[in-house]
Amino acid sequence: MPAAFEVLWLDPVEKLDSAMRARLGEAGLRVVVVSTLDELNAMLRRVHMVVVRLFEDGCLLAKVRGLIAENMLDLPVVCRTDRGALELAVAAMRNGAKHVVAADDWNVGSWTHVQSLMAPVKAQPQTFVFADPVSQKLLVLAQRVAQAEVTTLLTGPTGAGKEVLARILHESSPRRTGPFVGLNCAAMPESMIEDMLFGHEKGAFTGALKDYSGVFEQAAGGTLFLDEIGEMPIRLQAKLLRVLQERQLTRLGAQTQVNVDVRLVAATNRDLKAAIESRDFREDLYFRISTFRLRLPCLAERPLDIMPLAQLMLDTHGAERRPWTITADAEALLRTHAWPGNVRELSNVMQRALVLSHSSLITAAHLSFDEFGVLDNSSAENRVPLSAAAAVDARGPDLDSAVRVSQHRAILAALRAASSRNEAARVLGISPRTLRYKLAQLKDHGFTLAMAETA
Ligand SMILES: Nc1ncnc2c1ncn2[C@@H]1O[C@H](COP(=O)(O)OP(=O)(O)OP(=O)(O)O)[C@@H](O)[C@H]1O
Ligand SMILES: [Mg+2]
Repeated sequence: MPAAFEVLWLDPVEKLDSAMRARLGEAGLRVVVVSTLDELNAMLRRVHMVVVRLFEDGCLLAKVRGLIAENMLDLPVVCRTDRGALELAVAAMRNGAKHVVAADDWNVGSWTHVQSLMAPVKAQPQTFVFADPVSQKLLVLAQRVAQAEVTTLLTGPTGAGKEVLARILHESSPRRTGPFVGLNCAAMPESMIEDMLFGHEKGAFTGALKDYSGVFEQAAGGTLFLDEIGEMPIRLQAKLLRVLQERQLTRLGAQTQVNVDVRLVAATNRDLKAAIESRDFREDLYFRISTFRLRLPCLAERPLDIMPLAQLMLDTHGAERRPWTITADAEALLRTHAWPGNVRELSNVMQRALVLSHSSLITAAHLSFDEFGVLDNSSAENRVPLSAAAAVDARGPDLDSAVRVSQHRAILAALRAASSRNEAARVLGISPRTLRYKLAQLKDHGFTLAMAETA
C-alpha cells in the first residue's frame, strides 16, 4: 500500500461513515473531516490534498482555492459531484480542480488513482538557479545572513525571486527543521490579515467556532515570511511592531499572552522609503524589519542566469519531452530580451513555448514575450501577446481566461487614462489595494504591466 496521504474532507451534506473511510484508507488516504471553511482554513497546512463536495454553482471550489492561495500553499483540490452534474464537473476542472470523482464513487481503484495523481507533486524537488556571478554572490550572502537569524527585508522588482530567496534563508538557517509559513499581506481584507497573523480564541467573534492559531504561532521554531509587507494596513503595522518588540502576542479574545518564536523575513516590491514619506508605512516598523536588507537584482542584471533558468523551466514543466534543445536563434532572443517581468516572465515564455512546440526543440518561432506596450493599446505588439497569454491557459478559451482578458483591458484603459494609480482605482470602482492585488493576479496569469506599474 502507498504511504498515507493526509486529506481534508469537506462535504456539507453527507457524513463520511466508517466503511467509506476504510475504503479511502485502502487507497492510501488518511481523511480529516471538516465541516466549515474556518475549520478547513485552520487545517490546510497539515494536509497534502483537499477534497470538496460541490453543488449547483460550484462556488465552494473558488472559496477553497482562495484560502489555499492566501496561505501560499500549492495544494491540489479534488471535487466530488453528483453523477448527473456533468457541467458542474467540467466547470470544476476548468476552475482548477485537479480531478473530479462521482460523489457516490467509493471504489478503491478510483481513489488509488486520485492518490497517484498527488504523488509526483509531493516528490518534486525544488531547484533554483544561481549561475551568474551576481546571483552567486547574493546566494553566498543570503546563506550567511540565514545563519545570523536577523530579521531580513527582501526588496526587488516583481518576479525576481523574493519568495525563492525567503525559502533559501529558511533552508540555510538553524531553524530549517522548523516550519516555513508565508502570508501575503496584499491579498486579504484587514480583519482577515489580523486574524491570520495573530489568531483568535473560540467565541472571539461570530463564527469563531474554534481556537485558531495565527501564522506567528504556526511558524513557531521556524520562519515567518510576510510577503508584500508594504501593503499592510497602517493600523496592523502598529500591532505588528508591538508584537515584534515585545516578542509576545495576544490572540483575539484571549486573556493570556503567547511567546513569539519566529525569524521574520519580509518582502516588498514597493519603495518603502516613499511609502514612509506618504505616511503609508511606519518608519519605526521599517527599521524593525530591515535589520538586514537583501536586494534581488532584476534578471537583466544577471544575464548568465537566463539560459540555465530557461532550461530549468523546460525540465520542470515539460519533463516528459526531455532532453530539450534550444536553438541558436531562440537563445539569441532569450539572451537579448529585457525581461521587465524578470524570472516569472521567463517562466511564462518557456511554458508558452512548451505549448507551441510539438517536439523537444524550442526555436525562435515558439517564443512569445509578455506584453509591455500598455501606452498604446491599439498597437499590434499589444494584441498578439495578449491572445498568446490567454492561450497558454491550456484548457482553451474558457470563461475564466475571457474574464481575465477583459479585466486586463479595463485595468489597462483606466491606468492609461488616469494620472495616478489611485485615480485609476477610483475610476474602476475598487480600492488601490484591490487594484494592486488584481495587477498581481494578472501577472501570475502571464499579463505583465511594467509601464503601468510606474504610474
Ligand atoms: N533563482 C531562481 N531559480 C529558479 N526559479 C526561480 C528563481 N527565482 C525565481 N524563480 C521563479 O520565478 C517565479 C517568480 O519568483 P518569486 O515568486 O520568488 O518572485 P517574487 O520576487 O516574489 O515576485 P513578486 O514580487 O511578483 O511576488 C517563481 O515561479 C519562482 O519559482
Ligand atoms: Mg512574491
